[in-house]
Amino acid sequence: MNVLAKDLKKQTELVERMASRTDRFRQCFHLMPVTGWLNDPNGLCMFQGVFHAFFQYSPFDAQGGVKLWGHCTSENMVDWKQEGAALYPDSPFDCHGVYSGNVLVEDGRMYLYYTGNVKLDGDYDYIHTGRESNTVLTISEDGKTFGPKKVLMQNCDYPEFVTCHVRDPRVWKEGDRYYMIQGARTKEDQGTALLFVSSDKENWTYSGQITTREKFGCMWECPEYLKIGRRKVLSASVQGLTGGEWKNRNVYQSGYFFVEGDFPGDCQLSEYYLWDYGFDFYAPQSFRTEDGRMIQIGWMGMPDCPQHINKTLADNWQHCFTFPREITQRDGMLLQNPVRELREKKEPVCMVTGNLHKEGIRTFEVDTEHIMASAFRAVLAGELVLEYRDGFFRMYFLHTEKEAVSGGRDMRCTKLPELTDVKILADVSSVEVFLNGGEAVFSTRYYPDTYCVEIQAPGADIQFWNICHIKL
Ligand code: FRU
Repeated sequence: MNVLAKDLKKQTELVERMASRTDRFRQCFHLMPVTGWLNDPNGLCMFQGVFHAFFQYSPFDAQGGVKLWGHCTSENMVDWKQEGAALYPDSPFDCHGVYSGNVLVEDGRMYLYYTGNVKLDGDYDYIHTGRESNTVLTISEDGKTFGPKKVLMQNCDYPEFVTCHVRDPRVWKEGDRYYMIQGARTKEDQGTALLFVSSDKENWTYSGQITTREKFGCMWECPEYLKIGRRKVLSASVQGLTGGEWKNRNVYQSGYFFVEGDFPGDCQLSEYYLWDYGFDFYAPQSFRTEDGRMIQIGWMGMPDCPQHINKTLADNWQHCFTFPREITQRDGMLLQNPVRELREKKEPVCMVTGNLHKEGIRTFEVDTEHIMASAFRAVLAGELVLEYRDGFFRMYFLHTEKEAVSGGRDMRCTKLPELTDVKILADVSSVEVFLNGGEAVFSTRYYPDTYCVEIQAPGADIQFWNICHIKL
């Protein structure tokens, strides 16, 4: 660790020690920063039987300053232990941020790949000029200390058709070769994913791009190539989708394409499906558990969105992760559901038919099953409405001022031929809604003064659970 990293470590520990950790909107079973700002999940993995989640972290600035990698560990993906920061922007090649990346676990070691972001001083547009995107590797033997950083690729190693926007390496192994995918913006302002190949994890050769036939957004961030059941999937967080169907959606999107044909050879991408239809979801990352499940965690936040505010800013922190989701496949369709480890934390409170009214519980799950004729309406905290009407499922707030429970959020919806079941997972300041066994999901932050849930679903079975979280 160099002297700059030592100082940054001391300062991080100081601000973390000074943080109150008791303010009213702190979540119970969602990973969030001790203080300051959190964005993308990074380096999610299971290492020596323990879950590790790194994250984009600005401990000194809740509005998001220069990025470090924060670090948490967990035995069960529900209770997270803060491990302090793992990687600091302490080198000339990452001095404007240790940006996103992933971890490859092999031979009892963690290989952490990330983008070292550098913005040069001067009159640059930072798209075509003025930005260095360095692909960096550091290795950990114990998941606690991180070895010397090594720059593997610089701007000159990327194909000539891309701008300076190349980032978020994701590395995996297939056969005896290693693959790396990175998000990029081309000189024609087209979003794309670049593929690199290596036989030793350090020397990489560009081997082609994976993109859509027609332009689809101007920048793809945090791409991932996943195999889920019999489906091959390319996930990407896309910037620059405007107009038409994107008009009443988030400023940026996170979704996936099904990959047809031979990947990485001759492959084609299907249409794009959103991972989440709510207000707060971006830059998800996935990993496989030792028992073979595919788990995905997203950032429950949205960049560049001045319409919303997060009321936790008043308490000097901002954003959290989604609750980890198991991704499975049914009839060729992807499903997302809260990880099964949550069962250990659920206490049954009541089971009713048709109508539910509960007050004063801040952390709960409520499952509505066997919904009849798609009839469903729920209101949380008197403000957040979840309802099915005219072939659409909607999530909306009754008051959309920034001071309201919504923090300025308004309405999101998706078309759904029918509604059979709804699972609502509510933590102190977040709500995640899973429809039809996880076919569609809506996530949002909310900021209630008082907690209450009302459900009307004539004839349906409604089960309410308290989620009792044990703090480590
Ligand atoms: C996505 C992203 C990544 C980048 C990181 C910086 O939210 O913009 O592309 O690596 O955040 O914090």
